[in-house]
Amino acid sequence: MAKVNKDYLKLPGSYLFSTIGKKVREFEAANPDKKVIRLGIGDVTQALAPEIINALHTAVDEMGNEETFRGYAPDLGYEFLRSVIAEKDYRERGCDVDKDEIFISDGAKCDCGNIQEIFDKDNIVAVCDPVYPVYVDSNVMAGRTGEYDEERQLFNGVVYMPCTAESGFMPDLPKETPDLIYLCFPNNPTGAVITKDKLQEWVDYANDKGSVILYDSAYEAYISEPGIPHSIYECAGAKSCAIEFRSFSKTAGFTGLRLGYTVVPKELRVEGVIVRDLWARRHGTKYNGAPYIVQRAGEAVYSEKGRKEIETQIGYYMENAKIIFEGLSSAGYQVSGGVNAPYIWLKTPDDMTSWEFFDMLLQKANVVGTPGSGFGPHGEHYFRLTAFGNRDNTVEAVERIKKL
Ligand SMILES: Cc1ncc(COP(=O)(O)O)c(C=O)c1O
Repeated sequence: MAKVNKDYLKLPGSYLFSTIGKKVREFEAANPDKKVIRLGIGDVTQALAPEIINALHTAVDEMGNEETFRGYAPDLGYEFLRSVIAEKDYRERGCDVDKDEIFISDGAKCDCGNIQEIFDKDNIVAVCDPVYPVYVDSNVMAGRTGEYDEERQLFNGVVYMPCTAESGFMPDLPKETPDLIYLCFPNNPTGAVITKDKLQEWVDYANDKGSVILYDSAYEAYISEPGIPHSIYECAGAKSCAIEFRSFSKTAGFTGLRLGYTVVPKELRVEGVIVRDLWARRHGTKYNGAPYIVQRAGEAVYSEKGRKEIETQIGYYMENAKIIFEGLSSAGYQVSGGVNAPYIWLKTPDDMTSWEFFDMLLQKANVVGTPGSGFGPHGEHYFRLTAFGNRDNTVEAVERIKKL
């Protein structure tokens, strides 16, 4: 008789964004005259840049010609894309990353979720609290955690590293030594960034303890201030302890197109095993590559014209972030993030819970955000707004919130 994976049953029922979606649908059905503005889910709104569209058109035409048609992509991804990534994202920043350490995929979510597979089930996992839920849930599904503790709203067997306002939403080095450490900077949901010195402390810690850092830098393109690392490989010794995830989703609007990559350095060994080779094995066995046309679109992101267009797009979102940040600060809200990240993290007023504030904002301002508690217990009494809306909606949403 077939059996299901019981670890899946440990996951609490209602997923954050489906609960939000249900509440918004109910509100809209009951108030058809109200215009609801969504600054909740982190999805982009601007069209793909012209240079990317050009690359897509060209690649589509190539696929329609027998001479230039492409079938299955190489396991690691096309060399034209891996080479340009190695050059532009790493070597130009002084990081020695080889194209054969880069694995192209259809996005960072899959890679962040799948990476745990190449590590032993007994590894202790550490995550920030609040956290991008994929890191925890994928480890729950793999049986690497205990049961969900309803009261603490945490999974047993996971090391949670609280990120509070007092510490600038930075995790402290954990007391209990974890084997796998998920870090995400610029951070979703808090919008916090880590300095190079601080990140170096984590790298030194991981090398000292024999831990592996799983570093998600999906939002590095939003870093606007100097001195903040775009890659963990800017830190000395990171290649022997860290894996890095990148995404084209927020960098270039690929949320619907789908493209990302993971760097697994050859120096990274666990129990003497070259981790890169395990990931290559997994990639080759379970994945057949991002589409050729999408990889060509990814290549266009690094062209001079593409880069300029994308910088303009990021500038547009960051102007939204500024509007939200300054608007809410002037209205007396305690706000953070939004300077090097497209997320604004605000403290709910009057000690309201995150969901109480969500309901009030929806009912009274018809604005949708994301309750901080959905990212972990230390997200309670916080709320996330995203800068990915269009300008008019963002301005209007801020005006409505200010009027509350
Ligand atoms: C921290 C973080 N990592 C990864 C992802 C997923 O990116 P992708 O669209 O490439 O799967 C997201 C998307 O919201 C994210 O916030």
